[in-house]
Amino acid sequence: MSGSYFQRDRTWHPPALTPSYKTSILRSPSQALLSLPTSLSEETGPVFGHDMLGPLDNDLIRNFAKDGAEAIGQRIVVYGRVLDENARPVRGVLVEFWQANAGGRYRHRKEGYVAALDPNFGGCGRAITDGEGRYEFRTIKPGAYPWPNGVNDWRPAHIHFSVFGHAFAQRLVTQMYFEGDPMICQCPIVRTIPDRAAIEQLVAALDRNATIPMDSLAYKFDIVLRGRRSTLFENRMEGN
Ligand SMILES: [Fe+2]
Repeated sequence: MSGSYFQRDRTWHPPALTPSYKTSILRSPSQALLSLPTSLSEETGPVFGHDMLGPLDNDLIRNFAKDGAEAIGQRIVVYGRVLDENARPVRGVLVEFWQANAGGRYRHRKEGYVAALDPNFGGCGRAITDGEGRYEFRTIKPGAYPWPNGVNDWRPAHIHFSVFGHAFAQRLVTQMYFEGDPMICQCPIVRTIPDRAAIEQLVAALDRNATIPMDSLAYKFDIVLRGRRSTLFENRMEGN
């Protein structure tokens, strides 16, 4: 496939400057944006193979745990597909995820929240999408946590995602929330997103059909990366 990538839809993404999310004030550009044509450096990206992953990379319940131990918390499976804007699967791309533990605490030296660390939970993992763009991992449901923004602001339970895509133009860093969580709509970061439908796209659906009986609930989270403008003419699938 060739052709440049669709321009990022700035009405769908949050604006850079959103003063109710305090740190955006210093981090947002103070000059008008320039529009540059994409070049090879945006249309290429690193290539990843399944063999770079360890067997527990997509199992956060066990990938930091001592032998025979498991992380504490509500056991869940998170799965979905990585697609582009033309609804085509994005295959063989690295999906990384990181999160707080069940109490809402990160394993990070700058973390200051009083909730306890779980000695058997590291909080990060990775997966490579398969031929249909699918990824999957097992983890525990993260807790909500307070953060120094307003007087009493809390982040809803969430999982951070980084997706490489096939080109740097497709790189996406985002967050996933959980269906039915009343904390989502009061979050100052979520509220920087102007379009309600865009917020809903960040909320993973509880999927009863994918639950593992007597073990884990399941949440489905599909991710859409930028697509290419060119019309597709395909008489065979990519990779065949
Ligand atoms: Fe977070």
